[in-house]
Amino acid sequence: MPDVACLNGQFSSLAQARVSVNDRGFMFGDGVYEVVRTYGGIPFGLDHHLDRLERSLKEVRISPTWTRNGLISWVEQAVARADYADAKIYMQVTRGVAPRDHVFPKVPPTTLITVTEIHPLPDGLRENGAALITTPDIRWGRCDIKSLNLLPNVMARQAALEAGAFEAIFIEHGTGNVREGAGSNVFAVIDGTVVTPDLGPHLLAGITRAHLLEVANSLGLPTAERTLNADDLYAADEVFLTGTTIDVVAAVQIDGRAVGKGVPGPVTRQLAAAFPPG
Ligand code: PDD
Repeated sequence: MPDVACLNGQFSSLAQARVSVNDRGFMFGDGVYEVVRTYGGIPFGLDHHLDRLERSLKEVRISPTWTRNGLISWVEQAVARADYADAKIYMQVTRGVAPRDHVFPKVPPTTLITVTEIHPLPDGLRENGAALITTPDIRWGRCDIKSLNLLPNVMARQAALEAGAFEAIFIEHGTGNVREGAGSNVFAVIDGTVVTPDLGPHLLAGITRAHLLEVANSLGLPTAERTLNADDLYAADEVFLTGTTIDVVAAVQIDGRAVGKGVPGPVTRQLAAAFPPG
């Protein structure tokens, strides 16, 4: 079977899966999600993604009806049915189906898993690096929760595309602090140190971000989690992005200015070589 859906434990092709228009994910964006990828059919970092999913659910007060092992079993079955070597596993849990009313309904949550093929990055992007734009961070104060509410991310990513760039970087109003990309975390290499903004409510604790820091440490590269501002990015020797579907992507231009020498730098290339993880 190609693209697979598992909706509340019912497997079907993706095209056949249906949810009610009264689903609170559709009405309010009232839910949370995860994206996991497989390498050679094996989900990467599944435990970490499930930890983060459980945390997101707790923060928004949705109690799933499944156990963790039950969810893992659905994921494994969906991955096996789809049978892609490199697949994207999307998991979404909403507060369920109920007539539209803001307060929480007493209904079971809706759990959707989909498995689709991972699309390769645009031609040449990995070798040549990407252009970025910066954009004001207009999001809410809990971006550590992987919420379905992605309107600012959608707007920012579209603005990037229209500017001929690959990703938009959210910058905090007033301070100029770098937070993260519309769908990625941001790193800079400054005087040999691999630096990324420290965690907090304003950015997602990326699973790839954490893995990258481990890889950097294992390679003996100094790392730091600290405040970075837009000027630090412009002046950095190297800048790169991390995320589940992109692994590591070098940034060679930000807001039209060249980063470093304008080509993917040696530290980024060294770190990118650690993907796919062995
Ligand atoms: N996005 N920051 C944001 C806002 C993200 O949406 C993502 C991932 C990341 C990177 O996190 P991770 O390394 O755990 O994938 C950071 C996913 C892939 C998405 O929304 O499609």
